[in-house]
Amino acid sequence: MAFALKQAAAQTVAAKATGRRAVVVRATKYDDELIQTAGKIASKGRGILAMDESNATCGKRLESIGLENTEDNRRTYRELLVTTPGLGQYISGAIMFEETLFQNTSSGKKMTECLTEQGIVPGIKVDKGLVPLANSNGESWCMGLDGLDKRCEEYYKAGARFAKWRSVVSIAAGPSQIALRDCAYGLARYAAIAQNAGLVPIVEPEVLLDGDHDIDRCLEVQEAIWAETFKYMADNNVMFEGILLKPAMVTPGADSKAKVPPETVAKYTLKMLRRRVPPAVPGIMFLSGGQSELESTLNLNAMNQSPNPWHVSFSYARALQNSVLKTWQGKPENFKAGQEALLKRAKANSLAQMGQYDPSNESAEAAERTYEKGYKY
Ligand code: 13P
Repeated sequence: MAFALKQAAAQTVAAKATGRRAVVVRATKYDDELIQTAGKIASKGRGILAMDESNATCGKRLESIGLENTEDNRRTYRELLVTTPGLGQYISGAIMFEETLFQNTSSGKKMTECLTEQGIVPGIKVDKGLVPLANSNGESWCMGLDGLDKRCEEYYKAGARFAKWRSVVSIAAGPSQIALRDCAYGLARYAAIAQNAGLVPIVEPEVLLDGDHDIDRCLEVQEAIWAETFKYMADNNVMFEGILLKPAMVTPGADSKAKVPPETVAKYTLKMLRRRVPPAVPGIMFLSGGQSELESTLNLNAMNQSPNPWHVSFSYARALQNSVLKTWQGKPENFKAGQEALLKRAKANSLAQMGQYDPSNESAEAAERTYEKGYKY
């Protein structure tokens, strides 16, 4: 019997013997596997490639380089990403949209197989997107709990071993107490359901960059949302050793005049994490949220200048893919160059994960911001 199950069985026997109710009887057949999967993803010098844009968002990316949003074009782009030679050295997990999880490459190979061959764990976005939250200040809530247990079982069968659920918090719009609570509770329910199906949940309450607030206000809101999220995760018996977090970094708003250096972002972000995140959590995998490729790598590097209680790494979409798209331009003759651009960003962030990144060879393009007001994923 696996260790976690044995422990739970022993707790139940002990509770019966003393006539008391066991406080925690939660243990599933997946507990040991969840811990292993999370540990594999949160491994030294590696992070996550987020490539789970919805078909609509992927389409916008393709249109930016003059390509039509067809299934074939999405396949070709995603094939470019997952077949990049050597990617597994820097990337430990890749989050896919449902279409990609069940898709084959043009040569008929499963996309998931391309990843696992390189030691990259396949992941799946399981939320159903954001919709307006009634009676709030124009805020939103994240759908997808209905039928989630069955979908997670199917995703596991298809090879996924971790999941993502992205909820958002808007500082510019409040945030209202009801929006914070809904975001936190939804994440906790999702995390419990995903773990019961063998998927390591990435817990992502994205505090949006939108707004003109200062960094102290961002710290305050981040502390509030993470406190609620951990409270509800504890209430839902989520096993903290088998989750990964995906926070936004603590920064001033996109419209703030204040520009803060990476050392300040690192100081504030680590302060927030130390105050809110137990060391049982194996990994913190940041989103890039509209920062430039360069900024997000520099900030990550600054956070890894001294040891942290958790693996502090990346789970970027825009900050890994921006220069790939620009290099590729949808042209077959640029396919390899696009893969090289991905490898370059992945390597830079791998070094930043170990606190060893040197920005002296970066191009001006890497400093281009990817921020877009009201960005939809
Ligand atoms: P960005 O890095 O583009 O913010 O996206 C990461 C992500 O997966 C958001 O859910």
